[in-house]
Amino acid sequence: MTKILMVCLGNICRSPLAHGILESLLPDTEYYVDSAGTANYHIGESPDHRSIEVAKLNNIDISGQSARQFKISDFDTFDIIYAMDTSNYDDITKLARNSSDKSKIKLILDANEGHSNQNVPDPYYGDFSNFETVFNLLNTSCQIIAGQLKQ
Ligand code: 4NP
Repeated sequence: MTKILMVCLGNICRSPLAHGILESLLPDTEYYVDSAGTANYHIGESPDHRSIEVAKLNNIDISGQSARQFKISDFDTFDIIYAMDTSNYDDITKLARNSSDKSKIKLILDANEGHSNQNVPDPYYGDFSNFETVFNLLNTSCQIIAGQLKQ
């Protein structure tokens, strides 16, 4: 079983979408996908209603997800940890205990050609069009990631 964790700040906007999209592209017999936030602001909450809506428009149901905070033991549980932006990347990197932990952390948009080293923009204070932009960026990344994993 390959285990993949998606991480953003609040675990209510971006990482729940990345979680739902990648999960929809991989067989659950071989892959486990989860998400978490670096912050504790929204623990136990459902995804933002705009993330739920943009996922639903694309036939993905993320409404059952519940926000949780990233924890050190996630480095033991997961094989790959995708950060949504460089701030999340730096925050998780600071928690890494050794080079093995560090080697698991990647920036998700590095999967997209032309988007290397870029951030999935935080849509929290934006409008629905910002959530559509996030969905499209993550959908491209997840399609590429799923293709690479299945090779
Ligand atoms: P996320 O978006 O990191 O994509 O889940 C945010 C959600 C909540 C907050 C910031 C970003 N907040 O400040 O509460």
